[in-house]
Amino acid sequence: MERKKVTIAGLQAKKAAGQKITMLTAYDYTSGALADQAGIDTILVGDSLGMVMLGYDSTVPVTMDEMIHHCKAVRRGVKSGFILGDMPFLSYQVSEEKAVENAGRFIKEAGCEAVKLEGGSEMAGVIRAIVKAGIPVCGHIGLTPQTATKLSGFKVQGKDAESARELVQAARDMEAAGAFMIVMECVPDVLGARITRELRIPTIGIGAGPDCDGQVLVYHDVLGLFERFTPKFVKQYVNLAPQIREALARYRQDVESGAFPGPEHVFSMSADEAEKI
Ligand code: KIV
Repeated sequence: MERKKVTIAGLQAKKAAGQKITMLTAYDYTSGALADQAGIDTILVGDSLGMVMLGYDSTVPVTMDEMIHHCKAVRRGVKSGFILGDMPFLSYQVSEEKAVENAGRFIKEAGCEAVKLEGGSEMAGVIRAIVKAGIPVCGHIGLTPQTATKLSGFKVQGKDAESARELVQAARDMEAAGAFMIVMECVPDVLGARITRELRIPTIGIGAGPDCDGQVLVYHDVLGLFERFTPKFVKQYVNLAPQIREALARYRQDVESGAFPGPEHVFSMSADEAEKI
């Protein structure tokens, strides 16, 4: 049975009803379709694709064109899930005009339903401008990987009262600017709970504790496909990389030994026709 289309109203109703929201990244047709078929509410085409799909060292080099290419593929695989496109570094910081233009590409060209952008209170104006153009925005606070250098690395954020208060204010400012949802990355669980209690809009945690309105993880981390590092907040549900490697090595051995293709993989023609070749 096909599930009902996930909408912003539906996501916000889940918060109101105390039901958890699920979010998972996906980067292509197949991962989008699998996440959607698994009943995930929100499919995030994250700029993490720069690392797990494209092999960059960070998310910083990811371009708008790369994001649009992957979002289009995910769009073709997803029927009911809500598709969120991640705005890459410098696609929304240069000017509000540029931010609206780029956010518009995610909607018009790629078929996304909303965009996500990283930052804090300083992003309120950009969020307001994009929302004013009719494009829903999800904020992303805490550890913001695009500006990890400014944060002195990939560290838990908001660990002291002053920086925690700044994050509470950032969440408030994003909500006031019109964001429909907020992702919180790598903050102490009590801060995740505090911000979740305070906001009307849903909060989605990634390393932000169990009291957020929902959780997000990276597809490759959940499935054990990315082996370069595994953050503490990840729960791996299956370790596919060794299984895939093993399957591919068996395929190689079968080809090398002549065991593949077998009779069941072969197309035949009549002996008469074969004789005429
Ligand atoms: O790019 C991404 O995958 C993200 C999630 C980790 C929230 O921003």
